[in-house]
Amino acid sequence: MKSDRVLEEVKGRIDIVDFISDYVQLRKSGQNWKGLCPFHSEKTPSFMVSPSKQIYHCFGCGAGGDVISFLVQYEHLPFPEALQVLARKAGIQLQAIKHDKKAVEKDEHIRNALKEAAAYFAKKLKESGNAAAYVRKRGITEETAELFRLGYAPAGWHNLLQYLKGKGYADAIIREAGLAVAGEKGMYDMFRDRGMFPIMGMQGDVIAFGGRAMDSSLPKYINSPETPVFRKSETLYGLFTAKEAIRQLERVFIAEGYMDVIICHQYGIRNVVAPLGTSLTPGHLQKLRRLTKEAVVVFDGDAAGIAAARRALPLLCQNDYHARVLLLPHGEDPDSFLRKHGAESFGILAEKAQSMIDFLFSVAKGRRSDAVREALMMIAELKDNLEAEQMLMELAGRSRVSESALREEFRKIREKKPGERAMPAPRRPGAATFTEERLLLSAVIAFPQRTDEVLARIDLDSVRDAVAAALFRKIAAAPDRGELSSVLEGAGEEERLLFTRLSVDPGFDTGHVDRVIEDCFLKIENRKFEKRLDEARETGDIHLINSLLMEKKQSIKGKRT
Ligand code: UTP
Ligand code: MN
Repeated sequence: MKSDRVLEEVKGRIDIVDFISDYVQLRKSGQNWKGLCPFHSEKTPSFMVSPSKQIYHCFGCGAGGDVISFLVQYEHLPFPEALQVLARKAGIQLQAIKHDKKAVEKDEHIRNALKEAAAYFAKKLKESGNAAAYVRKRGITEETAELFRLGYAPAGWHNLLQYLKGKGYADAIIREAGLAVAGEKGMYDMFRDRGMFPIMGMQGDVIAFGGRAMDSSLPKYINSPETPVFRKSETLYGLFTAKEAIRQLERVFIAEGYMDVIICHQYGIRNVVAPLGTSLTPGHLQKLRRLTKEAVVVFDGDAAGIAAARRALPLLCQNDYHARVLLLPHGEDPDSFLRKHGAESFGILAEKAQSMIDFLFSVAKGRRSDAVREALMMIAELKDNLEAEQMLMELAGRSRVSESALREEFRKIREKKPGERAMPAPRRPGAATFTEERLLLSAVIAFPQRTDEVLARIDLDSVRDAVAAALFRKIAAAPDRGELSSVLEGAGEEERLLFTRLSVDPGFDTGHVDRVIEDCFLKIENRKFEKRLDEARETGDIHLINSLLMEKKQSIKGKRT
């Protein structure tokens, strides 16, 4: 299938509102759906999705496009890959997308191998008395084990390798999937005699594994290496299983380990994720922000846990999270805490999770002013000024330093900070930019059946607004008047933004489209007339001036009768 055919098929089968709802909480608002923009940080929704046009547009940052550009923008995917993801979702077989066909096919094989491996490990867990006993000993029920697709990689060097080769997988795929390692004497299994934790992507597909030693041998955990389908710094364990709960509860617990996520879930705390043995990264937060901006980071209350929480906070602020810190009693993680004290105690503790500022003061050892400065540095990371304002007030209350002194210090810190803040704010496309040409364009987008009429009357060569003119030309060339979103393909940035903006906000009363079209043409004619008149006046050609004025009189008369 050719890629533009695929594009059409994909758009036909995937509804943009459904699709974006997986990333952004949308509420119905008139004809459109509305939510918090995933592409910039905001408190009041200015991100609109139009079901009838199948496009989205943000009035805050100007992002806009169709379902494919959403995925491209959101996941930072190259276009062919985004198309691939959507095609798969739409159940379309891609035989021949030229671009990256090889890479795309390889990824597909890798994903399949990982899926087979997960099924294999799960089966081995059921068959192995020891491994099953270990899982029981860790307090994991069968139901939970199944939900997280837990497994067991048997002892021995070639178990999975033989199994996958038997299924027809090439050595290279097995190795690139991170399931086997190439040694001097050939390939051998990456995971041997380990409890297996499949790591799932956003769509529930297995993208990697963590494998835990069944005794105290080291390393305790082995994780899959980075592969074409797995980027560790962007992957959160448990996110697929937790995402619904995170969305509903509008809050996420960020814990440290595999077992924490699993046991929390078993105790009914389902909005929990964990990075994979690394500290939090911007990539992790990027994945989460579509779901919520309320995070509770959970750490062991020992020195290492406190240090880790401290490192996490500035990053959370940079990403405009409203974060709190939950320190567990020394030596405990959520897993051990829950199994000792139960869900109710955990809930009580979670309620008492500290605000970032309280946390900094409660762990401050040195001078109070150091805690104040650390807090100010953290607040300065926020891009959301309202949030910063609230935290400054909290800091003033907590530190008993006067607000004016705090503000002065704060200002200095912010001024020193390079980068983003110095960047100009995104231009807000305002209603003032609605020229007649843009209104006509908007009328055509809202009422595609009027396209031919408008195109027949408008003189494209005299449209000075280059963006509008380009869009008119693309619309004129569109194969199907009922399906104008094809205009977006190959459209430049400004064209795309104008098109998507007009699609969600026509800028005129759609109940009176006839009047609007007539008025626009009248104004355009008037403009032309005035121009000719000016020229005549400049040359002082009295005859021309008189005849022009006469023409005008006639035309007004003609309109009246
Ligand atoms: P922990 O050492 O706290 O382990 O590491 P845990 O999750 O509590 O596991 P149990 O309860 O001892 O079985 C926290 C996380 O750090 C990563 C893993 O993701 C682990 O869940 N880690 C830890 C590694 O990747 N490798 C290691 O060797 C240890
Ligand atoms: Mn643990």
